[in-house]
Amino acid sequence: MTKMAASMVEHGEDAFRKLFKFYKRRNPPPDLRDVIDFSKIVKHEKVFPTELNPAAVSDAEARRAGLRPIRDWTAFGLHGYPGFIFISNPFLPGSQQHWVRQCLKTYPQKPNVCNLDMHMTPTETQDIWGSSADALRKTGSRVREPKTLLEKLRWVTLGYHYNWDTKTYSADHYTLFPSDLHSISVHVASACRFPGFNAEAGILNYYRSDSSLGIHVDESELDHTRPLLSFSFGQSAVFLLGGTQREDPPTAMYMHSGDVMVMSGHSRLLYHAVPRVVPAPKGDPLHPSLEEDGLGPGSDQGLAQDHTQGEATLIQPVSEEDWAVCSRYIETSRVNMTIRQVLGSGQAFPAMDTTDKRIDAGHTDGYHDNQEGENVGLKRRRSDS
Ligand code: OGA
Ligand code: MN
Repeated sequence: MTKMAASMVEHGEDAFRKLFKFYKRRNPPPDLRDVIDFSKIVKHEKVFPTELNPAAVSDAEARRAGLRPIRDWTAFGLHGYPGFIFISNPFLPGSQQHWVRQCLKTYPQKPNVCNLDMHMTPTETQDIWGSSADALRKTGSRVREPKTLLEKLRWVTLGYHYNWDTKTYSADHYTLFPSDLHSISVHVASACRFPGFNAEAGILNYYRSDSSLGIHVDESELDHTRPLLSFSFGQSAVFLLGGTQREDPPTAMYMHSGDVMVMSGHSRLLYHAVPRVVPAPKGDPLHPSLEEDGLGPGSDQGLAQDHTQGEATLIQPVSEEDWAVCSRYIETSRVNMTIRQVLGSGQAFPAMDTTDKRIDAGHTDGYHDNQEGENVGLKRRRSDS
């Protein structure tokens, strides 16, 4: 740890909040030298390689889901964080595009729920992609007013829709969980030795370059023995993984496009936060893993095989027209999907009163953190300061 970061946590009191503020600060920007970069690891005192289960998913099954064979994945653990697994981009070249397109075009559609629904009518939020695509294609990532709906999108919920106000899921607010996302989640979980994972709820977070996600613990799921999965796409971000107490100083790490994190066991209920998106310098190309084209001629390991062999693929090629919009969006943005199993096998939601559980349109559209990243009240807070 550098002197600067060490001095932040010396006194122990809410060390997490101090480091959150440190990494969130804009002026002057923070020293990022202590942020672990799993894509560049040679040797690091806190990091060790983790053995996955290469037999959990066949190579063909993995390829169908746009994933490399499990034996080729690079996975790490962190000393002091049992159950935490970091998988460095396990995606086949060209397959991340599918997930970016799903996050921007498909998953925000009804019947899924998004932040815009909190203050707009279903008609107004019917076609977020369609109403934004032309403007985004034309003007790209330039600052533009008025903002398109896609640029105002902050979160989408899938499956059991998370109620941000009550911090609960409930049986009566469920819509079908996307099958492609269910499959890839099951594959990742079984590779990490969690067979029988059931993807029941998803929270997608959309980050602009100045967004952050406040300090929180994900404890609303009823079965904490099941892992929590996180998939990141687009711009990189700093992730802070803390302890069970706010006094425990967190470990900072980068999440790059394609990286997958699994929080399980002891690490399932730890404090964490995303204080900062770290956008590539303006004019830089997208993260190489996003520019790779797995579909073009001459590709020998990408997705082309599946199409030539006529296998049913889970993931669909992204049209050039759609990718023009997606790539413009993620030039400056980050998308994260967290996938949760809510109920244990055979478990049901506890009986509760029958008062109206519909979304209350009077509530806020974002979970903005304050400058400190505090989790005030029961809400997880988002910021686009
Ligand atoms: C969450 C979460 C992390 C991220 O949605 O609970 O912690 O990287 N997200 O967005
Ligand atoms: Mn979380």
